Amino acid sequence: MDFEIVTMRVAHILAGVIWAGSAIFLAAVLDPRLKALGPDVQRKVMASLAAALRVVLEGGATVTILVGLALVIRMGRFDDLLDTGWGWAMMVGLVTSVLALTSGVAATSTWKRAAGAGGGPSTPEGAEADRLSARATLLARSTAVLVIIAVGAMASARFV
Ligand code: HEM
Repeated sequence: MDFEIVTMRVAHILAGVIWAGSAIFLAAVLDPRLKALGPDVQRKVMASLAAALRVVLEGGATVTILVGLALVIRMGRFDDLLDTGWGWAMMVGLVTSVLALTSGVAATSTWKRAAGAGGGPSTPEGAEADRLSARATLLARSTAVLVIIAVGAMASARFV
């Protein structure tokens, strides 16, 4: 058993599970429930979760991508990237992961801005906060879809 490769796989898969699981939970469970509870509750909860979300989403994404790239190199398969089905699956995983990290960063910072916009209903600040939180919802959904594609690419890589 190659201890180094196994350790890297565990680190990669664990970080990926934490990242993808949180992104999907956020978009599919938490965000719709918070919306149903109204903008006040939604903004308060998202503002208090912002720092933790940064660690889980951005930290998880960074570890997943960096250890994933290190795995490709350590497995000696860098030249396979554009040359085999496995390599193309890795490329799909890499591109969707980078896009998911980008939209995840945009979602958390948009939520932060929405929480800071304040203002009650029927005020310009309130309308701006609503617009920002609608955009954050869209970004969170895009992130979830992108990580699902990345997981699919990873899981099928060795069979294509
Ligand atoms: C959402 C992002 C990602 C998730 C959830 C994820 C998850 C996984 C999982 C579950 C496996 C095990 C698959 C298997 O053994 O059949 C795996 C393997 C692997 N992943 Fe990822 N991954 C992600 C992104 C990436 C990225 C960006 C790279 C870098 C190109 C990468 C590189 C690898 C490599 C090299 C393997 C080993 C494949 C093999 O043994 O044939 N992953 N990943």
